[in-house]
Amino acid sequence: MVFKVKDDVALLRYLSAGESHGRALVAIIEGLPAGMPITTDYINRQLARRQGGYGRGKRMAIETDTVTILSGVRGGYTLGSPIALQIENKDWANWEKTMSPEEGVPPGDRVVSKPRPGHADLAGALKYGHKDMRNVLERASARETAIRVAAGSMARRLLEEMGIEVFGFIRRIGAVKVDVGDMAPDILKARAAASEMLCPDPVLAYRMMESIDHAREAGDSLGGEFEIRVTGVPPGLGSYAQWDRKLDARLAGAVMSIQAIKGVEIGLGFEAASRFGSQVQDEIFFDPGRGFYRSTNNAGGIEGGVSNGETIVVRGAMKPIPTLRRALRSVDFVTKEPVEAAVERSDICAVPAACVIGEAVVAWEVACAFLEKFGGDSLQEVQYNYRGYLARLKEV
Ligand SMILES: Cc1cc2nc3c(=O)[nH]c(=O)nc-3n(C[C@H](O)[C@H](O)[C@H](O)COP(=O)(O)O)c2cc1C
Repeated sequence: MVFKVKDDVALLRYLSAGESHGRALVAIIEGLPAGMPITTDYINRQLARRQGGYGRGKRMAIETDTVTILSGVRGGYTLGSPIALQIENKDWANWEKTMSPEEGVPPGDRVVSKPRPGHADLAGALKYGHKDMRNVLERASARETAIRVAAGSMARRLLEEMGIEVFGFIRRIGAVKVDVGDMAPDILKARAAASEMLCPDPVLAYRMMESIDHAREAGDSLGGEFEIRVTGVPPGLGSYAQWDRKLDARLAGAVMSIQAIKGVEIGLGFEAASRFGSQVQDEIFFDPGRGFYRSTNNAGGIEGGVSNGETIVVRGAMKPIPTLRRALRSVDFVTKEPVEAAVERSDICAVPAACVIGEAVVAWEVACAFLEKFGGDSLQEVQYNYRGYLARLKEV
């Protein structure tokens, strides 16, 4: 028997808050079942991965992110009550005056009036009526993704309990592209984990680092592509019945919401558009031991918005970092005079970090879909529901 859950309530959700140079980033998560094992170390390992990767800027050296679990976890297990997470900004002492919520911020202090092309600076200032674009960039910055990785770690932990694993790797930096062919997932994962570039090919990882060096020397930046895979997913997550329940749409939205991501593919993605139908669809087979299966996975594990039991494959394309040492042309927001865009401390390439963030947001969406189908108040209840469903599938 499967316990039914209410359809109109988002079972798992969170909101985050915090400015890039504010006191801290925070999130409140609601909907994780009680009894799920979790430690701060587990979350911190993911936060450290987000801060790694060749090509990051100076800020990563200043700050080692660590999470504080403020509520909802006791003795290493979730309580089923809301979970509050906090990541303090270690550089706060240097920004306290500038970012103080109290009156008395020194006038003109660290004002940003030269909007940076490729950032939310100009559009955000026009929208909210800010004169100082620091008010925009402080929240629009990818610093916010640290708390998303922390929240995503909780989802990842839940999925692990269900035998579902999420991992990612880099497919491209600028012109250097990796073809992983049909490399076994375990090898792919281990090689990516051993690489500073999260790249499964050590020779190409070296060439990626060289191209980042060239970009740095030229005062330029580089983007690239990452791929996220989710293994052990049962058929039936998401739904074909309503547009906003489709798992592929939800994953695409989540990955696209990461700063600087400009393209998302599921499975074969854009490549499918150039092929004949016979070269794209994954034919269906049956084996009494395995059940239904496919010999290809061009759909990336999702058909009609529903997981089909194959590995979920999602890719994200990241544009080059928009802040360039070789400053871009802009216009002063106040004087309207042509100026060089403001230059904040900046990464040259952050695709490996974006990949870790991609893993976090994908884990979150899969966990949401999982709890929508199997949700219960305790981990035990969720597992019971899940086992019941798997047993039913065996009877099909
Ligand atoms: C992990 C990560 C690190 C980033 N670091 C920088 C950076 O150091 N400098 C910068 O200008 N943009 C950086 N970006 C990209 C900007 O945040 C992003 O381009 C900007 O907020 C505008 O959003 P959009 O590109 O999605 O339109 C980073 C993005 C990510 C995901």
